[in-house]
Amino acid sequence: CKEETKYRIGVSQCSNDDWRTKMNEEIQREIMFHPEATVEIRSADDSNEKQIADIRYFADNGFDIIIAAPNEADAITPVIEEVYDAGIPVIVFDRNINGDSYTAYQGVDNVGIGKSAADYARHLLPDGGNVIEIHGLAGSTPAVGRHEGFAKEAELKGMNIIASAYGNWNYEDAAIKVDSLLNIYEDVDLIYAHNDRMAIAASDVARKHGKDIRIIGIDAAPEIGIKAVADSVIDATFLYPTEGYRIIRTALNILNGRPYEREKILPLSSAVDLSNADILLLQNESLMEETSKIKYLKSQVDDYWNRHSAQTSLFYAMIII
Ligand code: FRU
Repeated sequence: CKEETKYRIGVSQCSNDDWRTKMNEEIQREIMFHPEATVEIRSADDSNEKQIADIRYFADNGFDIIIAAPNEADAITPVIEEVYDAGIPVIVFDRNINGDSYTAYQGVDNVGIGKSAADYARHLLPDGGNVIEIHGLAGSTPAVGRHEGFAKEAELKGMNIIASAYGNWNYEDAAIKVDSLLNIYEDVDLIYAHNDRMAIAASDVARKHGKDIRIIGIDAAPEIGIKAVADSVIDATFLYPTEGYRIIRTALNILNGRPYEREKILPLSSAVDLSNADILLLQNESLMEETSKIKYLKSQVDDYWNRHSAQTSLFYAMIII
C-alpha cells in the first residue's frame, strides 16, 4: 500500500531568486522519489528576522531535519546552534554559519570561484586593467570568499581593483552603486560582480553611461545568467552548483542512520561564455522537458492511489453496514 510519510524536511532559504528557484525545483523533483518524506520550503526574503522565525517554526512544529542557507552568518548562527543543540539535525548549505554546529554542510569553494573569475578577467584583459568589484551581502560567507579569491589572483595578474561596493546580491542595490562609481571613475575596463543579477545591473548601467566595459558574474542559473551571456549582456559567468537533489539525499541518509559526507564541497566548473552558453541552454531545455514528464507521471500515480484508497474505504464501509 502507499507509504506513509515518515519524515518532514524543512528548508529555510534566505532569499527568493533565480538561483534558489532552480535549487527548490531540484528539491521538489527529488522528493517525488521518496514517498516516505515531505518537504516544506520557506523563503526569508533576505530578512534575518524572518529566517530566525522560519527556523523556529520548523523546530516548534516537529520537523525531523532542517536544511538552511543562512542569510548572514552572525545573525543566523545562534538559532542554528539552538536547534542543533536541541537535537534536531541541521544541514547548512551555500552560505555558512560561524563555527560548525551542524550535522552536515554542502557548499562550494567560493575562494576558488573568485580565483577562476580573476583568471578569466585576465583572459579578457591580457594587458591588465582597472576593475570595479561589486560584492554580495557583507555578512554572507560567499561574498567573503569570492572577494578573497579574486583580489589575490587579480593582483598577481596585474589588474587594479580601483573601487568596490556592496550590491547585497540584488539588481537594484548594484545598479545604484555602479551608477555612482561610474560617475566617479572614468577609466574602467571590467566589472566583477559576485552574482549574475548584479552583473546584469552593472551591464545595464554601463550601457546607460555609454561605456564599453567587460562584465563577469557568478551563478549561471539558466534563465538569468546563462541567458545574459548568450545575449551578450555579460561576458562570462561561473556555475555555482545548486545540487538540490543531493541535499535531500543527504537529509534522508542522516534520518535513516546511513553514512553521509559531513562536509561536501561541490566541484568547480570552467567559465560559461559565448563558446558554451547556447549548448547549456539547450541542455536545460531538455531537463525542463523531462521534469514536466516526471511531474505528470507522479500526478497520475497520486491520482491512482487517491482513487484506490477512496474505493477501499467505500468497500470497508459497505462490509460494516
Ligand atoms: C542567491 C544568491 C546567489 C549567490 C548566492 C550566494 O540567493 O544571492 O546569487 O550566488 O546567493 O549565497
